[in-house]
Amino acid sequence: MSERTLVLVKPDGVSRGLVGEVIARIERKGLTLAALELRTVDRATAEQHYAEHDGKPFFGDLVEFITGGPLVAIVVEGTRAIPAFRQLAGGTDPVEKATPGTIRGDFGLEVQFNLVHGSDSPESAEREIKLWFPAL
Ligand code: PPS
Repeated sequence: MSERTLVLVKPDGVSRGLVGEVIARIERKGLTLAALELRTVDRATAEQHYAEHDGKPFFGDLVEFITGGPLVAIVVEGTRAIPAFRQLAGGTDPVEKATPGTIRGDFGLEVQFNLVHGSDSPESAEREIKLWFPAL
């Protein structure tokens, strides 16, 4: 069943030159790109994107980080795209959770600087795609 997910190559991934690496892994998996944009996000959009984490101790740092430089927003499409991208990304903590062979496991060291975001459910994907790409 084909579905869509919202992927972000976060500002750390962009500044480290890992956009091509992330896209290559998405494409090699068999998923396709339905939309892609380099963008510096404002605070209101960042807070909406991460609304479910509002109130958690890391919320302020997360919003600060995600608005701190350009990121690449991508709509990824394909069979089981949501879990498939999360498999490619690896667990949230690049050292404790993500395994080697995943994006975070191969390139990350810190939870805050974990390089990529992928929607975690069909409901989140729908909400996030509407937020980032309202015309789609
Ligand atoms: S939770 O509480 O289990 O729902 O949180 P989690 O799914 O692990 O993480 C949600 C997003 O918050 C980011 N995160 C952090 N950012 C900065 N500092 C700290 N300590 C931190 N912990 C978690 C994490 O990378 C997730 O971002 P996304 O973009 O959704 O992957």
